[in-house]
Amino acid sequence: MKDLFQPLNFSCGVSLKNRFMLAPLTNTQSHTDGRLSDDEYHWLTMRAEGGFGLTMTCAAHVQAVGQGFPGQLGVFGDEHLEGLSRLANGIKS
Ligand SMILES: Cc1cc2nc3c(=O)[nH]c(=O)nc-3n(C[C@H](O)[C@H](O)[C@H](O)COP(=O)(O)O)c2cc1C
Repeated sequence: MKDLFQPLNFSCGVSLKNRFMLAPLTNTQSHTDGRLSDDEYHWLTMRAEGGFGLTMTCAAHVQAVGQGFPGQLGVFGDEHLEGLSRLANGIKS
């Protein structure tokens, strides 16, 4: 465990600043159509501010009929792009 605070570099060029990773945790905070909510944005960016090298969202559904639970994040339509981009930028910053 001596490398926990060392960067982790992937061959694709992506790099994590440490090896702490937030596991996907069901937060049931997305809107009913899968769009990101402000509560979800704040919850996940607060985790990133805590210093995780990688902050994962909950499991997300990739088509409307694939929703696993109410409040699940969606990744299948143009309507999701704004929230997902905002979330990725917020976590990165
Ligand atoms: C409350 C809760 C919600 C979870 N939600 C998800 C989820 O949305 N997607 C997923 O892939 N795993 C989910 N998991 C599984 C966790 O991401 C993780 O894999 C599991 O807790 C085992 O972690 P560990 O290997 O560090 O012990 C959830 C676990 C818990 C306790």
